[in-house]
Amino acid sequence: MTASGVGGADGPATAPAMDPASWFDVAGKTFLITGGTSGIGRMMADGLVAAGARVVVSSRKAPAVEETVAELREAGDAIGVPGDVSTPEGARALAAAVSAAVDGRLDVLVNNAGVTWGAELEAFGPEGWDRVMHTNVEGVFHLTVGLLPALRAAASEDDPARVIMLGSIDGLRTPPMENYSYSASKAAVHQLTRHLARRLAPESITVNAIAPGPFVSRMTKFVVQDPDATAKAVAEVPLRRFGRLEDAAGMVAFLSSRAGAYVTGAIIPLDGGITGAGTGG
Ligand SMILES: NC(=O)c1ccc[n+]([C@@H]2O[C@H](COP(=O)([O-])OP(=O)(O)OC[C@H]3O[C@@H](n4cnc5c(N)ncnc54)[C@H](OP(=O)(O)O)[C@@H]3O)[C@@H](O)[C@H]2O)c1
Repeated sequence: MTASGVGGADGPATAPAMDPASWFDVAGKTFLITGGTSGIGRMMADGLVAAGARVVVSSRKAPAVEETVAELREAGDAIGVPGDVSTPEGARALAAAVSAAVDGRLDVLVNNAGVTWGAELEAFGPEGWDRVMHTNVEGVFHLTVGLLPALRAAASEDDPARVIMLGSIDGLRTPPMENYSYSASKAAVHQLTRHLARRLAPESITVNAIAPGPFVSRMTKFVVQDPDATAKAVAEVPLRRFGRLEDAAGMVAFLSSRAGAYVTGAIIPLDGGITGAGTGG
């Protein structure tokens, strides 16, 4: 029996706690955000720290991690652990360093770090595949496995530990850009999400993916710097705008809170309606 009811289908044994304000609360939880120094990861880090969470920020470049942590600490609790998830050794080393920094207990892993590559079809060589697949897919797998002991230490039936992947709408629909390895890597991330969700559900660890549409970041700099390309990108979004901090941080907070505790194996588009409501125009 749990605090709010029995397991299985026979309903709650006690009245559920009716405290809606707590349903979305992430205060006091510890998050690791890979790629938390830029773009969507930084938006999530800012939002979660403001919501009272403790955020571990990671990326390859130690100075960027230090700078981000210094800025986050003006609002709350943050620490930095640099690392490179593009090799199995790097991902395992990061898992060990983060586990030590959080005393072996991690509530939420956000596998956000990712890279892309674009080239015309016949010029799309191996260099466009290796880094993208190793970072976006294999790195996510090895980091998640390396952090399982810390996630297990935080997991309970009432409040599961959470793994949140950053997929992409490019893994859900066919992108117009020539980013072949990226779209394939994100489709792989979505399936890895479902597979890990099945494997880890009995251990009270949920695994979900957020599939963003356009957000301002380093990855989309080539669009954002060009007013025509920006207008075209916005016109493809039914809600007619890029994603914002509250969209990214709000979704990750939902998936990490009591409100998101019964969701696992889901791929959630965060795209202003591109995949669900059709393209704009
Ligand atoms: N922006 C969008 O519109 C959009 C849309 C759909 C999906 N996404 C996904 O959302 C996630 C974040 O994207 P973003 O656009 O916000 O990215 P971004 O601004 O380019 O930032 C990427 C982050 O990942 C880190 N990183 C890159 N390679 C790494 C590695 N090998 N090990 C550790 N950290 C690494 C980078 O820092 P260092 O360089 O210091 O390592 C940086 O902090 C990605 O998974 C991306 O595919 C983004």
